Amino acid sequence: MKPLAHKVAIVTGAGHAKGIGRAIAVKLAEQGANVVVTDLQQAAADMDSAVTQLSGLGVDAMAVAVDVMDKTQIENCVQRVLDHYGRIDILVNNAGVGVGSPDFTELTDQDWNLSLQVNVKGMADFCQAVIPAMQAQGGGSIINIASLAGLGAIEAIPACYTASKFAAIGLTKQLAVNYAKQNIRCNAVCPGSIVTQMHKQTLEFIAAEHGISVEEAQQHEDASIPMGYSAEPSVVGDAVAYLASPAASYMTGVTMPVAGGMSPGI
Ligand SMILES: NC(=O)c1ccc[n+]([C@@H]2O[C@H](COP(=O)([O-])OP(=O)(O)OC[C@H]3O[C@@H](n4cnc5c(N)ncnc54)[C@H](O)[C@@H]3O)[C@@H](O)[C@H]2O)c1
Repeated sequence: MKPLAHKVAIVTGAGHAKGIGRAIAVKLAEQGANVVVTDLQQAAADMDSAVTQLSGLGVDAMAVAVDVMDKTQIENCVQRVLDHYGRIDILVNNAGVGVGSPDFTELTDQDWNLSLQVNVKGMADFCQAVIPAMQAQGGGSIINIASLAGLGAIEAIPACYTASKFAAIGLTKQLAVNYAKQNIRCNAVCPGSIVTQMHKQTLEFIAAEHGISVEEAQQHEDASIPMGYSAEPSVVGDAVAYLASPAASYMTGVTMPVAGGMSPGI
């Protein structure tokens, strides 16, 4: 039997076909989990294609539009999942935004509010919504997608992003401590340089700042990675599937870099 057979997982921000969330959803489904894909309403078509892809892997899949900045939408989603499946075993808080300038003095209130609302508060609200069900069923696994930028400060990353990812790790550790005795594990995965839309935006910014091409910015970044390359989203999916599995049953409160050896800076 597959390690996650009969489990029910929710993955946020999992619409984009080439995003980390979709790769996580696929890896969980490959391990046998039924997966609820959530994302913004505007990604409805992407979510539908995710459901088709996941169903093709032989699991039950469902899409629910959720803006993680809206607590009512989160609570409604969790209720819908409980009505349908009767349980929630795995929550992966992947939805995230990377906004703002690396020049600290240029950051706006909007940059700060969006970063903190999506990357921290949305994560906390989703945890709060699923924990009662996990307590009632005797356990569960929460995996928060933080960042290498949540472990240290990396050049060219906006301060609002770094601060939000440090906060995501603080939240992860607090929940790990609070709920360990109830068999609810809470861990963070900290991706380094993963080839997605968000990563492309960062490279474009660096290229513009330094008057170089995006390809040169990519080469510069790859040179800072001991393994020498930026990875596909599936490597993050593998780490999440491991942390969600019984093989990680004694792991809680960890912050797992998936970064090819890249340093988180200071
Ligand atoms: N790509 C990288 O190199 C990298 C590195 C470290 C961490 N991360 C983190 O990985 C996660 C996924 O990022 P990605 O690279 O796949 O980027 P992405 O932009 O492809 O995916 C982000 C997803 O979050 C969704 N989202 C944004 N705001 C939302 C909201 N308010 N409510 C619900 N969903 C919302 C988007 O629609 C999208 O599907 C993010 O948390 C990001 O911070 C990415």
